[in-house]
Parts: sequence; structure tokens; C-alpha cells
Amino acid sequence: MDIDLGGRVALVTGASKGIGKAIATSFAAAGASVMLSSRKQDALEAAAAEITGETAVFAANAGDPDAAEACVEATVDRFGGIDILVNNAATNPYAGRSIDIDLPRYDKTLEVNLRGPLVWSNRAWHRSMKERPGSAIINIASIGAFSAASGIGIYNMTKAALIHQTRLLANELAPTTRVNAVAPGLIKTDMARALWEPNEATLGARTPLGRIGEPADIANAALFLASDLASWITGETIVVDGGSTLRSGG
Ligand SMILES: NC(=O)c1ccc[n+]([C@@H]2O[C@H](COP(=O)([O-])OP(=O)(O)OC[C@H]3O[C@@H](n4cnc5c(N)ncnc54)[C@H](OP(=O)(O)O)[C@@H]3O)[C@@H](O)[C@H]2O)c1
Repeated sequence: MDIDLGGRVALVTGASKGIGKAIATSFAAAGASVMLSSRKQDALEAAAAEITGETAVFAANAGDPDAAEACVEATVDRFGGIDILVNNAATNPYAGRSIDIDLPRYDKTLEVNLRGPLVWSNRAWHRSMKERPGSAIINIASIGAFSAASGIGIYNMTKAALIHQTRLLANELAPTTRVNAVAPGLIKTDMARALWEPNEATLGARTPLGRIGEPADIANAALFLASDLASWITGETIVVDGGSTLRSGG
């Protein structure tokens, strides 16, 4: 089925590689004008050069409210408004027992993964989305949100809270703007490379659908949620994990 985002404007954070780049690519292929954002200008320009369709780039740290505001403004200046915001950028600076995390890394994780999506949603909604019926915010969470396992517990905690934040904003921004989340399982990107690269075949065999995820698997769900096919869905989180939480109990 072809999904048409013609005439829509999308802003995607963390768009220079991995899941964010796949989302930007699929939205542009569906006809949207796409603003790609992440911290490094060179990486953004390289990503945009590989994407077919109308794109622009703006370097911004997702944890910096001033940068969020500047990026939203640049998107409106360039494309005339914002219909779709994808809060995809996230950080995972700490591995270990949650009780021992140092405060700078605790604060950084919350700043980028949880406060960031709120700030970007706030700036984009007040600047443009509230005047664009059918607009949509999509937050990229994680199946880690459903686990209390140690290791990357504070990162997982931010994703659990992001799912709650998704429901809060869905309630508040209706009926103009839908707010949904996607919770990916293990996806072949740089962020998760240490997890999948040494064990890809074993991890794939353990996954009910027989492989670990590709960025396009998440982009497909985001494309659906951004489109009018999802026009009566808000506050929802779609798990896209090849069925892995069916066995891990997540
Ligand atoms: N891969 C997985 O297995 C997996 C599983 C569940 C959930 N997720 C979630 O999926 C999302 C995308 O992750 P990914 O796996 O695609 O990661 P990735 O391949 O490492 O890409 C991360 C992207 O975010 C940007 N970024 C990182 N920190 C940023 C910041 N502070 N401000 C702005 N941009 C920033 C990076 O570019 P710069 O470094 O140039 O800024 C890059 O474009 C994240 O929310 C992650 O938590 C991933």
C-alpha cells in the first residue's frame, strides 16, 4: 500500500544515521518535505545527499532548548510549517547498576531522551502544529521501557517515562495533533552495535520472526503513524521487535 505524505512537512531529530535517517528517507519517498536534524552538520549533509526527495538540514543538540527553537524556526522558514515531528534522538552514556550512576550522566540521559521530546514538541506545537489539523508527533521509545533489567536501566527508565509523556501529550493536544510512540527491539544501528555485532546470528535465531531489526522496520511503523491511515490512533505505543518481547516477557 502506498502512503502519501505529499504536502506535509516533517522534522526528524537524530536523522543523520540509523533509525532517524531511515524515517527521513521513507517520509521523503512518501512526498513529505523533511528537515533532518542532529548535532553534526557534515553527517547531516551526507545523509541528505543520499535521500531522494525534498530535504533540508539543521544542526541542533536535542537536549538544548535554544537549539530546538532555532531548528523549529528554520523548518517553518524553509517549508512553511510543521505537520510531523519525530523525536528520535537519544543518548545512552552509562552502563552499569542504576544506583551507581553519576549525576552528570543521569542528567544528560534525562535531558536528551525525556526533556528533549517535551521541549521539541512544545516548540513545534506552539509555533505551527496546533494550527495544522491532522498533525502528528512520533516519539521513538524502546522495548527496554518494559524491562527492569540492570545495565542500561536509566536509559530504559527514560523510555518508560517517554511512553507516559506520549499519552499525556496525546490527551492534551487532541484533536489537532496525534501523539504516538514506537518501541523498537534490537535494531542494526551504531547505537546498539556492541549488542548485535558479536552475536547477530544467535540473536536473530532467538527472535520469533527470525532476525534482528533493520532501521526500515521502525521507519515503516513511523510512516504509518504519521499518515492519515492512523487518523484515529493517539496515545498508543507500537512495539516493533520481531516478537522478541513475547519470549523475554518484556
Ligand atoms: N538501535 C536499537 O537497537 C534501538 C532499540 C530501541 C530504541 N532505539 C532508539 O532509536 C532511536 C535512534 O537510535 P539509533 O539506534 O538509530 O541510533 P544511532 O544510529 O546511533 O543514531 C543516533 C542519531 O541521533 C543523533 N544524536 C545523538 N545524540 C544526539 C543529541 N544529543 N542531539 C541530537 N542528535 C543526537 C546522532 O547524530 P549526531 O551524533 O551527529 O548528533 C544520530 O543521527 C533512539 O531514540 C534510540 O533510543 C534504538
